[in-house]
Amino acid sequence: DTGHFTYDPGYGSTASTKSAITYIDGDQGVLMYRGYPIEQLAEKSSFLEVAYLLLHGELPNQTQFASFENDITHHTMMHESHKNFFQGFHHDAHPMAMLAASVASLSAFYHDDLDVDNPEDRQLAAIRLLAKMPTISAACYRYSIGWPFRYPRNNLEYVNRFLHMMFEVPSEPLELSPVFAKALDLLFILHADHEQNASTSTVRLVGSTGANPYASIAAGITALWGPAHGGANEAVLKMLEEIGSPDKVETAVKRAKDKNDNFRLMGFGHRVYKNFDPRAKIIREMCHKVLAELGVNDPLLDVAMKLEEAALKDDYFVERKLYPNVDFYSGIIYKALGIPTEMFTVMFAIARTAGWIAHWIEQHETPGSRIGRPRQLYVGATNRDYVAMDKR
Ligand code: SDX
Repeated sequence: DTGHFTYDPGYGSTASTKSAITYIDGDQGVLMYRGYPIEQLAEKSSFLEVAYLLLHGELPNQTQFASFENDITHHTMMHESHKNFFQGFHHDAHPMAMLAASVASLSAFYHDDLDVDNPEDRQLAAIRLLAKMPTISAACYRYSIGWPFRYPRNNLEYVNRFLHMMFEVPSEPLELSPVFAKALDLLFILHADHEQNASTSTVRLVGSTGANPYASIAAGITALWGPAHGGANEAVLKMLEEIGSPDKVETAVKRAKDKNDNFRLMGFGHRVYKNFDPRAKIIREMCHKVLAELGVNDPLLDVAMKLEEAALKDDYFVERKLYPNVDFYSGIIYKALGIPTEMFTVMFAIARTAGWIAHWIEQHETPGSRIGRPRQLYVGATNRDYVAMDKR
């Protein structure tokens, strides 16, 4: 009735959540943000414009975009005492552990005057999170390598500002090929949202209790960390390194089919896509372009291509509709861009913050929204009486 449509995803579960943000058709391999096909956004948009679209439901005009970008640019700094937070971690702490803890701690800096029922406060929280995720993420990396933090440069646009905070060293100006920012912006667009995936559902469930947005997003970060979800891109690289060379691929495929061997092909399969993940198609093309433009000849890409070829013609994978997913190629591109492996899922979290906070706000704006309370099928013991310990 509003020109929008509701639907039952129909993949084995009734839709328990109604949302107008992202539409996926797993059988057709369709992904749309607010009705715009991911292929068009990947080709024509930017991550910040997509973040605006996810949050507000419409693409911004120039005035709206300028104001949005200006707001974000002026919220990029961390509270100065937030830096002390990192001193409590060992240098080899995983960046995802530091990121989750740091984002949750934003509640301590900004929560006391935030009213989750006030639309303006919700929008300010969205601006703060989109603005600070790159700053905090870069700080996690810099701390892990013992380098000083870099302040965000407001004269740089979003992705370049992040790359500067990640890689700029005190002793020399940062020289980065424009390929970096373009590739990273595209990866951020492709990872920005994906309907009710595990981490977004976590953010909505935590947010449904009235918890503040920083705590809700921190919960999403911890859910994303798992190797079955966002941690898969890091696991893909480890898997490719374990396989080692194209001539070992057949053995890897055999192991992935062996039920007694818990070796899984990371980067393959999906809860929803039983066709090619449309993002993987886009990333696959970009992967070859980035490696060619950067002149990187990564032997792991040869292993990846051989693995994709072997899996796509193997009955086990074909019957189970296990195709390469978004994480299969993103890890290789991150590696080519010089992003360290343990930072791969942090990249995913920066991008997915746009989707997470859009869902968190949508839930608050949906009339009649109640606290989430998944039910269960009880399969435990039937009613019985207590027996004293000396009688057991
Ligand atoms: C993301 O939900 C989202 O939208 C997530 C995400 C997002 O943008 O938020 O798209 C991002 O998380 C992508 C997925 C990244 N994860 C991985 O690449 C990890 C490897 N993939 C698998 O762990 C698995 O495919 C899952 C977790 C992604 C899906 O798990 P399911 O739903 O249990 O898989 P399935 O039901 O489709 O499995 C069917 C069969 C099973 O075997 P049988 O019981 O039929 O004999 O396929 C097998 C599975 O054991 N199988 C695999 C496999 N994935 C599934 N066998 C070998 N290798 C694999 N990768």
